[in-house]
Amino acid sequence: MELRAVKGMNDILPEEIGRWHRLETTFRRVVELYGYREVRTPIVEPTQLFVRSIGEATDVVEKEMYSFRRHDDDLTLRPEGTAGAARAYLEHKVHAREPVSRWYYLGPMFRGERPARGRYRQFYQAGAELYGEAGPLCDAEMIDMLARFLQQLGLHQVEVLINSLGGPTTRQRYRQALVDFFTPRADQLSDDSRRRLEKNPLRILDSKAASDQALCAEAPSILDVLDDDDQAHFDGLRRYLDVPKTPYRVDPRLVRGLDYYTRTLFELRGTGGELGAQNALGGGGRYDHMIRELGGPDTPCIGFALGLERLLLAMEPEPIAQAGWVYVAPLGEAAQREALRLATELREAGIEARVDGRGQKLNRMLPRASSSGARFCVILGDGELERGIVALKDLATHTQEEPARDRLLPRLRELLGEDAR
Ligand code: HAM
Repeated sequence: MELRAVKGMNDILPEEIGRWHRLETTFRRVVELYGYREVRTPIVEPTQLFVRSIGEATDVVEKEMYSFRRHDDDLTLRPEGTAGAARAYLEHKVHAREPVSRWYYLGPMFRGERPARGRYRQFYQAGAELYGEAGPLCDAEMIDMLARFLQQLGLHQVEVLINSLGGPTTRQRYRQALVDFFTPRADQLSDDSRRRLEKNPLRILDSKAASDQALCAEAPSILDVLDDDDQAHFDGLRRYLDVPKTPYRVDPRLVRGLDYYTRTLFELRGTGGELGAQNALGGGGRYDHMIRELGGPDTPCIGFALGLERLLLAMEPEPIAQAGWVYVAPLGEAAQREALRLATELREAGIEARVDGRGQKLNRMLPRASSSGARFCVILGDGELERGIVALKDLATHTQEEPARDRLLPRLRELLGEDAR
């Protein structure tokens, strides 16, 4: 049997990891400037956590969870990060220690969706959650933080969509409006949506089926049934978004696939790059009732998550940077020992060095050095050892010089410094 990675789960090889690191570093830098600190929670959580927070009648819980039983516990690989973070926030009684908490996370999530370009069964998210603030100011600030992060990545073709889902009374009213609208048109709905009409009519607005989408375009708008407090929150959000001039579009049909949202909802859609149909780069919203429903005190929350694979698809491929590392090529045993010393010295000075330990002739080593991607090759043979020098080859310019052994480090620093300029 041929062993392969699980369908929809990808390897990230060392040659690709540079882009991931740059993306993750930029994310950390941006969100930390806004006061967010990293949290790491387990990848496996009790299944009930997701059922209760994400909602029973969602695609994620109904069809996509990787659930299993072990040691009498029902467990699930996390399909997203919000529920686990909320559980940790509650379990460690963070609310009793600090009035406002700002957390972020990076890591793999698991959903058994049909794999496609930009849609995988294991994928990576970068997300953030803010606990303890109820007003629209922090909603606007979070959306602005996201827009700035995407700008820093060089992603300019991104649309910010916002909507409000209201609170429980608005939602109840809207639910009824949707039932009234869809019931006489039920025969035009897909099977899934007809089922949802009874269980969770809001989810119909999420449907990808073309016939459903045509109907949804005519369905009532939630923005017409917001109660006064929800309306004030939404108006506030729009006013605050105008301060940093974050461009956005109101989309009253935006509902997103998870049931925990209240009031502010947003999504970032890419319009360029190689994204194709999976163009939701990230999204989030307010979920003011989750902590209470999980057994904690009333705690307003808002958060988002971004799909890292999708961000990478939307970003320009980067030119491969000229690596500044040194290939050390020793000829003979004495030279090999000296090579180990020399490589250690270079590394201690912060210069990457790799020793060729295959100990063959120079005419075999040089081609290996050239094709290795190194910038410099240091050749050490008996002759060099005797004279107290090394042969230093610049593999980019094809020039060679023979600095004294103890001048090698300053000379390399000079050459690498010139490169950096
Ligand atoms: P979500 O919209 O389900 O929200 O996922 C956020 C992002 O994760 C999506 O916009 C997409 O970029 C990426 N994503 C989702 N599923 C896949 C997949 N199968 N393959 C590749 N990428 C995917 C959440 O997860 C919420 N927890 C966001 C949040 C945080 N809301 C409040 N706080």
